[in-house]
Amino acid sequence: MEVVIQPGSAQIASLVADAVERLLTETPDAVLGLATGSSPLAVYDELVRRHEAGRISFARARAFLLDEYVGLPADHPERYRNVIEKAFTGRVDLPSEHVQGPDGSAQDVPAACAAYEEAIAAAGGVDLQLLGIGSDGHIAFNEPGSSLASRTRIKTLTRQTRQDNARFFGGDVDAVPHHCLTQGLATIMSARHLVLLATGSAKAEAVHQLVEGPVSAMWPATVMQHHPHATVLLDGAAASRLQ
Ligand code: F6R
Repeated sequence: MEVVIQPGSAQIASLVADAVERLLTETPDAVLGLATGSSPLAVYDELVRRHEAGRISFARARAFLLDEYVGLPADHPERYRNVIEKAFTGRVDLPSEHVQGPDGSAQDVPAACAAYEEAIAAAGGVDLQLLGIGSDGHIAFNEPGSSLASRTRIKTLTRQTRQDNARFFGGDVDAVPHHCLTQGLATIMSARHLVLLATGSAKAEAVHQLVEGPVSAMWPATVMQHHPHATVLLDGAAASRLQ
């Protein structure tokens, strides 16, 4: 695992955008794995800037989301499919039919999860997967205790994650859904390059476990220690508990 410590999110965003730009220059039809949440927002802004400057085209790229809340109406602003369109995909030339996420309103949840796995495989797998990390060490919504061999499935969000995400729901933890569909840890591990971003002291313990802790389902991100090409980009606060 490669750990890169930078002064702040602008420098992190620039390095990640460099990696995406290189990938799309070599492979215009690359498959991107996109995360929601606040960690990748500066990256998306930087990618939009480079797109507007004529440096990057996403016209032939495809994108898969990590996760989706269960039960939010199709037009809900916090539905991740809508969040990513507003934050990124709707601001570049990535055709909306090239963007897929798990179907959080499916009647047949196991079938929807299996279909999502098949869609990722049919696209040839994810080339570059962006990741944030929860303060409890989750990646996507694989909460502590998630199987390291898990694939896309329904999960219950912990109280901690619902509290962390209440800021997106007007501060009301009761408005945050209890369930989500999420790529599993094995699904994420199938991507060819994992790029995890973490900033701020609230992530310091999770980052310490990720980089220096034993691989454990209780800190799900630690599975990344087994990935042959994983890059972790941190600011000083997120790195503050590293030895
Ligand atoms: C979002 C996701 C989550 C977030 C994590 C960190 O698609 O999969 O794992 O990356 O909860 O969220 P932020 O970046 O908001 O701190």
